[in-house]
Amino acid sequence: DKGGYRHFMLKEIHEQPRVLADTLEGRIAGGKVLTEILGVDAVPLLEKTQSVHIVACGTSYHAGLVARYWIESLAGVPCTAEIASEYRYRSPVVKDGTLFITISQSGETADTLAALKLAKARGYLTQLAVCNVPESSIVRESELVLMTRAGPEIGVASTKAFTTQLVALALFSLALGRVKGLSEKRYASGVRQLEQLPAMVAEALKLDERIQAMAERFVDKQHALFLGRGTHWPVAMEGALKLKEISYIHAEAYAAGELKHGPLALVDQDMPVIAVAPNDHLIDKLLSNMEEVRARGGELFVFVEDGVGRGIDSENMLVLPASGEIAAPVVFTIPLQLLSYHVAVLRGTDVDQPRNLAKSVTVE
Ligand code: F6R
Repeated sequence: DKGGYRHFMLKEIHEQPRVLADTLEGRIAGGKVLTEILGVDAVPLLEKTQSVHIVACGTSYHAGLVARYWIESLAGVPCTAEIASEYRYRSPVVKDGTLFITISQSGETADTLAALKLAKARGYLTQLAVCNVPESSIVRESELVLMTRAGPEIGVASTKAFTTQLVALALFSLALGRVKGLSEKRYASGVRQLEQLPAMVAEALKLDERIQAMAERFVDKQHALFLGRGTHWPVAMEGALKLKEISYIHAEAYAAGELKHGPLALVDQDMPVIAVAPNDHLIDKLLSNMEEVRARGGELFVFVEDGVGRGIDSENMLVLPASGEIAAPVVFTIPLQLLSYHVAVLRGTDVDQPRNLAKSVTVE
């Protein structure tokens, strides 16, 4: 049932305020993340955790890349995030005190499941699954589970599964930070951002019509470049993946600092460049990268956090609610989902069932 929406994908995009609230339900109280959500022995486990290995595929991998920034910056714990199809065929070195985390919407992705099975013989502290399907293979094989509560996701392109994964990983990162000496102020701010997140996402969804208008500029394009820095680099990667999956426009994401090292050569008036610009410590660097794009005649599309408002000269600029280090990657994902959705609709592709793709990749 599409609930009155034209496609499942659009319905699932609009469900996000509710499923994000569901994923937070009963997991925060009195301004704190309830560590019990990671099992009865959560505190000793978190204390023992000296490093983290995250393994996943596709969109779920992008969630892992965001979490890597959070875990290192909030908890000071070294973290890697890696594609399951690579992890399972190399020889990963596992130091004592390493926690293994898989992320999967379906819980059935063949490579992620195989990576988990391999990890179980490798001397990790334990394995934690961030997953959306309670009765799935990955949940059954994992010692600890942190469920996302996105509900069934029908659209092949993942939307609400991704943002609920980010919320689950933010809960984990804050809980780990708390036992590893994260300042009270930053911890409290992170928790508050999570509490306000459903409302911020609802606010971001109001940009739908303006994004629909923006989408017209992409219909005839063959390529697109997405730029971000920090946690918003993987957000840009996710934006590019969405666009290529459902509109079949070739899209690439780059860390904005890499522009000069190659991709700037691609920029001309036929290359739309989408920049994700939260009001963080990297904003001035990103603004100067955007200037480099403009100077080469590239058409800039900017999603900017309320309060930045300086140095951006683009008619294609949309302002997002002020959000903060935990909320921003979720909030900025929303317009990117809507953009690829509307571009795909205008191009007449099969939005919910893109060619050549399956919802659950149970063979490698
Ligand atoms: C992209 C998408 C895929 C999945 C990937 C992993 O929109 O949906 O990239 O994220 O196949 O699937 P799960 O999360 O079920 O392991």
